[in-house]
Amino acid sequence: MLVSPSLLSADFANLIPDLEMINESESDYLHLDVMDGVFVPNISFGFPVMKSVAKHCRKPLDVHLMIVDPDKWISQVRDLGAEIMNVHQEACPHLHSVIQRIHNAGMKAGVTLNPATPVSSLVDIIEDVDLVLIMSVNPGFGGQPFIRHSLKKVEELRSLVATTGSKAIIEVDGGVNAQTGKELAVAGADMLVAGSYVFGASDPREAIHSLKVL
Ligand code: DX5
Ligand code: ZN
Repeated sequence: MLVSPSLLSADFANLIPDLEMINESESDYLHLDVMDGVFVPNISFGFPVMKSVAKHCRKPLDVHLMIVDPDKWISQVRDLGAEIMNVHQEACPHLHSVIQRIHNAGMKAGVTLNPATPVSSLVDIIEDVDLVLIMSVNPGFGGQPFIRHSLKKVEELRSLVATTGSKAIIEVDGGVNAQTGKELAVAGADMLVAGSYVFGASDPREAIHSLKVL
């Protein structure tokens, strides 16, 4: 299983030890949750913070933009050195164009679906994307309970990927822990985001390991 710990649950006044923990862990990515207070009812952090984080992080960055007009920020995300840029389907009326522009900037393009957005909305774009991020909570906050219907969406997406021959990786974000992670692995997830499960653990590296082995 690919693992992408979310920095949202780290201590923002003392990030260096948490970044060192990530660097030394088995995590595959660092997940960065950008919130604008418009697309979601919360504000997290922006580019000045992410630039500093990027300097200290040796894992590839998986940037999740929970913002309106995410296409305005493609070059800034590229300048961070991010590997994956995730935009919300609900925030992009011209999703096909945004995906091409993310690719032209040299990044992997991810499309994120809110809990009420159906997998079927991706039928005409699935062959163009590198990753689909299924939200298993309503975006905006860490520490929320896992929405169990997400398991069905992961199964449905796995089947869509198989029937179209898409190379898209299936990532899941929200309420992930060892138990829900195991169920997501069975449903067909390739990559798990975890915030509170990792940073709330007495041994965060062990928490990352417990997802890695799923
Ligand atoms: C929620 C964010 C998540 C969040 C997950 O809007 O997209 O990445 O950090 O937090 P947990 O793992 O605590 O549900
Ligand atoms: Zn996220």
